[in-house]
Amino acid sequence: MAYETIIVEIEDHVALIKLNRPDALNALNAQLMTELCTALKDAQANDKVRCIILTGSDKAFAAGADIKMMSEKTFVDVFSEDLFGPESDAIMRVRKPIIAAVSGYALGGGCELAMMCDFIIASDTAKFGQPEINLGVMAGLGGSQRLTRFIGKSKAMDMNLTGRFMDAEEAERSGLVSRVVPVKKLMEEARSAADKIAEKSMVTVMAVKESVNRSYETTLREGLLFERRVFHSLFATEDQAEGMAAFIEKREPQFRDK
Ligand code: HXC
Repeated sequence: MAYETIIVEIEDHVALIKLNRPDALNALNAQLMTELCTALKDAQANDKVRCIILTGSDKAFAAGADIKMMSEKTFVDVFSEDLFGPESDAIMRVRKPIIAAVSGYALGGGCELAMMCDFIIASDTAKFGQPEINLGVMAGLGGSQRLTRFIGKSKAMDMNLTGRFMDAEEAERSGLVSRVVPVKKLMEEARSAADKIAEKSMVTVMAVKESVNRSYETTLREGLLFERRVFHSLFATEDQAEGMAAFIEKREPQFRDK
């Protein structure tokens, strides 16, 4: 499919989705969000794809929702269309892992989009922020919710109330990102993480994603029970037998997603 605001490349088992509105620092408009959802749905449906990388440019992952698109809207407009609600729900429904490879600005909806991915690998030039307060609004796609759970109340309040940016080093220290690498190495690092994931059993990978995400939706007791039952259920797969046999036989496992 021909896209105008994103670039999609599928190489081996990895779908690379690159946000591509360079003149607007990859600001999220309706077309970009629709194209992104279509590309993610296609990646989910494509048996060849085992991991997805979402990235932007060196200068910006995404500088937020498109302010020019939003500036004339009224409450009734954004409420009625549920601005970016259906799109963020669709992103959260993707069951294959999504790595956000973030360089430059990840602000507002850009930071929130990165947080919708399963983990964030940042370049040393990355800057995260929820500066919506400077526009007379506030976060609308997780900046007051996911960010608070990821980095805690004090830092989330600081970011949302002052609108300040957080650099990559602070983001890693705070638990927002999993790794920081030099900007030139960002895509290599993301790719190598994706390749590692692609080697695993897809059934297990999706079970892990579901279980970790469940920890944000439920109590510890229920979450632990959910985890244990999913762990038990993986013994119904051929890949469990293969993984354990390969360990004992001191060889690499040959997973078949069964
Ligand atoms: C539309 C944007 C944009 C945005 C940048 N641009 N961010 N256009 N929406 N969010 C455009 C600029 O207008 C400009 O185009 C071009 O990109 C380059 O930006 P500059 O400002 O000239 O670059 P620079 O001086 O380097 O500053 C970079 C920046 C700044 C610090 C990232 O652009 C900035 O503060 N952007 C806004 C960040 C923000 O407030 N994000 C939150 C949005 S609200 P032109 O053609 O004008 O030169 C949001 C809500 C999410 O995300 C919830 C939705 C439900």
